Amino acid sequence: AMRFFELNTGAKIPSVGLGTWQAAPGVVGDAVATAIKLGYRHIDCAQVYGNEKEIGSVLKKLFEDGVVKREDLWITSKLWNTNHALEDVQEAMDSTLQDLHLNYLDLYLIHWPVSMKKGAVGFNREDLTQPDIPVTWRAMEALYDSGKARAIGVSNFSTKKLGDLLEVARVPPAVVQVECHPVWQQPKLHALCKSKGIHLTGFSPLGSPGTGIVKIEVLKDPVLNMVAEKLGKSPAQIALRWGLQMGHSVLPKSTNEVRIRQNFDVFDFSIPEDLFVKFSEIEQERLIKATVFAHETFGAYRTVEELWDGEI
Ligand code: A2P
Repeated sequence: AMRFFELNTGAKIPSVGLGTWQAAPGVVGDAVATAIKLGYRHIDCAQVYGNEKEIGSVLKKLFEDGVVKREDLWITSKLWNTNHALEDVQEAMDSTLQDLHLNYLDLYLIHWPVSMKKGAVGFNREDLTQPDIPVTWRAMEALYDSGKARAIGVSNFSTKKLGDLLEVARVPPAVVQVECHPVWQQPKLHALCKSKGIHLTGFSPLGSPGTGIVKIEVLKDPVLNMVAEKLGKSPAQIALRWGLQMGHSVLPKSTNEVRIRQNFDVFDFSIPEDLFVKFSEIEQERLIKATVFAHETFGAYRTVEELWDGEI
């Protein structure tokens, strides 16, 4: 019932993962433990979220207590923008592994097609530098060869940037992780992924309500609510199930036990075809534009249109 999707490496990625972006230190550890006890087997992390140490100590305890085995979990993390240089990638991954108390990752992603000065803290425009994705990818391939990263991929890439990477990659990316939900469905990227055997993972699958950074409320969308009412599910469950039926894995973030449980309760129903087609009527808007990475003098992208190659 769509619990896993198979990657081009042969590995099976659990289709619903717990997002940990903006899960505050002090809260994220409990959320991870709760989720795993409720049956989640996929945790999505990143060095820049600033909470990998806390997640690591929880994982360690869950392994020690026999709640779950390492080989039954899927752990993703991401290379931050300050570590794109060929010689910095392995060190960055090692430090993430150390924080997470792990000796391999199931998936390691280039977090953004954006590079910043080594050691830079925060999102200052003066720290933006020129990315060289082919070089960074070579370092990712070395991690894959070493077995420390059982799969590699990219995040926040446009269709064009993913296509460019495919031209030069020796090891093709297994996953592209991007914003994806009923209000930003990514049809072009979805089609490229489908034709090339790359798996798409959707972050902000609920449209990141309550973060203050997005204005449109995905969970209030009328189509989503109509379908939710017809099927007797919550709008969040419909948004997640839409992603699964598109063939995407989804990463709902919650630190609330009731909602963590609800977001995993999406395997025993499906959106019938006559309702599924209604999603094509939803007006589209990218919610997370990342204007911090576009600058007229610093970095590679003058505008957000350049960062997303017009997909905005
Ligand atoms: P909370 O952590 O209090 O549950 P996204 O995954 O798209 O980034 O959305 C995460 C946001 O959505 C968080 O603010 C989270 O709040 C909230 N959220 C998570 N699950 C649900 C749900 N089932 N219904 C409504 N809001 C939810």
